[in-house]
Amino acid sequence: MNSPRICCIGAGYVGGPTMAMIAKQCPEISVHVVDLNQARIDRWNSNDLPVYEPGLDEVVQEARGRNLTFSTNVREAIHESDIIFIAVNTPTKSFGVGAGRAANLEFIEKCARTIAECSSGHKVVVEKSTLPVRTAEAVKRILESSGNGATFDVLSNPEFLAEGTAVQDLLHPDRILIGGESASAVEKLAAVYARWIPRDRILTTNLWSSELSKLTANAFLAQRVSSINAISALCEATGADVDEVAKAIGTDSRIGPKFLKASVGFGGSCFQKDILNLVYLCEHFGLREVAEYWEQVVKMNDYQKRRFSTRMVRTMFNTVSDKRIAVLGFAFKKDTNDTRESAAIHVCRDLLEERAKIAIYDPRVPESQIREELRLSFADAMGRISDHHAKLIETNVTVHASLYEATEKSHAVAVLTEWDEFRNFDAGRVLQSMFRPAFVFDGRNIVDRKQLTEAGFEVHSIGRATSH
Ligand code: NAD
Ligand code: UGA
Repeated sequence: MNSPRICCIGAGYVGGPTMAMIAKQCPEISVHVVDLNQARIDRWNSNDLPVYEPGLDEVVQEARGRNLTFSTNVREAIHESDIIFIAVNTPTKSFGVGAGRAANLEFIEKCARTIAECSSGHKVVVEKSTLPVRTAEAVKRILESSGNGATFDVLSNPEFLAEGTAVQDLLHPDRILIGGESASAVEKLAAVYARWIPRDRILTTNLWSSELSKLTANAFLAQRVSSINAISALCEATGADVDEVAKAIGTDSRIGPKFLKASVGFGGSCFQKDILNLVYLCEHFGLREVAEYWEQVVKMNDYQKRRFSTRMVRTMFNTVSDKRIAVLGFAFKKDTNDTRESAAIHVCRDLLEERAKIAIYDPRVPESQIREELRLSFADAMGRISDHHAKLIETNVTVHASLYEATEKSHAVAVLTEWDEFRNFDAGRVLQSMFRPAFVFDGRNIVDRKQLTEAGFEVHSIGRATSH
């Protein structure tokens, strides 16, 4: 069988790593990743990749220039490829019908129209982006509307990688899911993955099951986090310890230990977006009770983020105005530079509203990105921000190059991302430069509570009674 030529539209957190892995594992397949964003493409072609992922540099370096290319030549790439992945963003709609819930499919539709215009012969079009059920139907109609004689098969092949572990997830996925009507198109794509993934891990379904499975997987994962976070509130009220409870229930093989880590709240570009999308779909089909059930997962997450900042303010004698708070971590989880929907944004916003001075340190997130996220957190639907809030960010936020710099002369430390370097810092050094009482609010339950308490800190963890 001839090797297919592949292109992927969208060089983001999914398109880039996923295609780099295909190119690495299949040297005989040419893989072309394209995007409209020239700056992003330039970084994919440099030694400073736009996506930070452990191990990704090596994967890209091995394949780039051999059988992996990055460019903005969208039309040319489509024309030359047999298999075309669509991995563009599908954010929550911020306007019009379904605003705040439905997925914005504008970018998907634009891709489908461009593919229709630039295609000849037969193409397999693969939905890699996460999409509402039955999107493939619309994609197919658009593809076939050009009337230029090209023919198409549409497949759904959702991505399950998690950021921070993308390379390992792509190398050893729990499963690959391919949904489609045409057995030959499904086999064409399955044969690509089968070059490094055992066949029994490649699941095939109908299109709608595949599209819906992706939303369902994220909803179930997020639901576990919201469930343990709900219990964390009860633990704080009763003296139970949420990590002990998580262990006790996680050893039940029917429940399992993963995704039971209580936290300041889940973040990331997908959990909230995908659940809201699921909620919208349920409402659309008149399933009000089902919609309400899933929406509660997001509500619980909002509650958890707000609960954390409220607890900080209450503990610090009901005022943080003019107090310096060191914020450790801004990414939505460790080992990524992604800050989309990070819980840290919400906590910082609440603290800024309380007039705190926040000193932020994150090992991978640049200052410009932190400031932009904070700006957006105060922005209205048109992206505008008041002078008052702009000034607040300018005067009350500083971004630092190390944990020690951020914590200096602070009243409190808030751990918001579980970066390994926050687990074991020099407690004596931090303490001697802080005001007393020296508070630590551990939003990830990673610090050594006993050691910090003995050193003289007052430690507040998620789902545990306070220790001091
Ligand atoms: P992203 O925003 O990082 O990347 C999307 C890219 O698509 C951007 O670089 C954008 O410039 C480009 N783009 C948009 N419209 C385009 C067009 N018409 N032509 C060319 N390029 C265009 O998004 P992401 O995080 O990679 O997510 C992509 C999709 O994958 C989403 O549907 C998401 O839900 C899903 N997903 C994401 C993850 C993740 O970990 N981030 C995991 C699984 C699935
Ligand atoms: C998640 C899913 O895990 C992936 O399978 C999916 O492909 C992806 O969404 C997507 O569709 O975008 P990701 O968001 O990258 O991946 O990272 P996760 O590890 O799932 O973490 C999400 C959030 O939940 C993070 O803020 C994390 O800190 C938090 N979390 C996770 C907890 O608070 N507790 C846990 O036990 C697990």
